[in-house]
Amino acid sequence: MDQGMRSLDAEDVRPDIAYMLEQAVKAPSGHNAQPWLFRVGDDWVQILPNTSKSLPVVDPDNRELFIGLGCAVENLCVAARARGYDVELDFSKAGEITVGMLRGQVDEESVRQLRWLSERQTNRSVYTGERISPEVLAYLREIPLEKFVGLRLWARDEEAFSQVASCIYEGNERQLGDPLFKRELRTWMRFNKRHERAMSDGLSYAVFGAPNLPRFLSEPVMTGVLRSDWQSQGDRKRLESASHIAIFTLQKEGITEWIGLGRSLQRFLLRVAACGCACSFLNQPCEVSDLASGLADALSLEGESVELILRLGYAKRRMPCSPRVPWREKLVR
Ligand SMILES: Cc1cc2nc3c(=O)[nH]c(=O)nc-3n(C[C@H](O)[C@H](O)[C@H](O)COP(=O)(O)O)c2cc1C
Repeated sequence: MDQGMRSLDAEDVRPDIAYMLEQAVKAPSGHNAQPWLFRVGDDWVQILPNTSKSLPVVDPDNRELFIGLGCAVENLCVAARARGYDVELDFSKAGEITVGMLRGQVDEESVRQLRWLSERQTNRSVYTGERISPEVLAYLREIPLEKFVGLRLWARDEEAFSQVASCIYEGNERQLGDPLFKRELRTWMRFNKRHERAMSDGLSYAVFGAPNLPRFLSEPVMTGVLRSDWQSQGDRKRLESASHIAIFTLQKEGITEWIGLGRSLQRFLLRVAACGCACSFLNQPCEVSDLASGLADALSLEGESVELILRLGYAKRRMPCSPRVPWREKLVR
């Protein structure tokens, strides 16, 4: 690994590594901020946090930023193994991740995962209500988790599911009652196709099922529904149509642990996609600290913090894909 040397220009990046970077940027991230930057050598890639894409109101500690970075690292590793490289990871205290690559064997499991890496999406639509079978749930529960990460799954008719749901509605009231939260969210909303194309990031009108209208029409409509009653009414329908809720927890907080959580999350999301299931995030309680700790107590999670909440089920349809900024534009020297 020659990471002491300078990073390559985009045109000098080897096709294999270019392909891996293309997969890395398909990772999910809070508000689709895509908070990563890359430095690239002949046999290494460095993934760096881009704090200019921080979300200071919803994510003041950059916790979700580093989770997103972990998802990108996991994608990069899947692509590298699928292309016949063994990977070696190194983490700096500041959250810079160096992925060193050594020629090895093609990993067939990673080759299969590539398909799900492209098909995975956050699907916020109302689901069918169909239950996920015990076999599929067992397979989802088996994903390898990084150190300190926990995963719980609860069915729609379980008490814990209702406790989490109540906390989500409470989270909507707290967040959408906060003008600063709304202001930050608005800056990441993309109001029509033109706006989405110009930015290639953020929360597109299309993923919420909104039509492509001139901005003077779509902006007031999309921002007008940023109300807690409206959001909770929609979330109630979404939760009632789900099969399960998944919760990711941590026993220890810190940059390395958040990155590890992101890697575990991405493995889970790829497996969810491979099983033909859909999922979306409902992280509101995790983003309001007293709600997060209250929820951990209510769920008797001793010594664990609630980090991520996901709704799982079967979708009636795929949703449009969220845009991405190409990796070339994320390259730093
Ligand atoms: C750490 C993290 C937190 C997220 N929180 C939420 C959330 O609370 N609500 C939501 O609808 N989506 C949430 N998302 C999903 C992102 O908005 C989504 O990944 C992004 O818009 C890109 O879309 P995609 O996942 O379909 O590729 C979160 C994603 C990550 C990685």
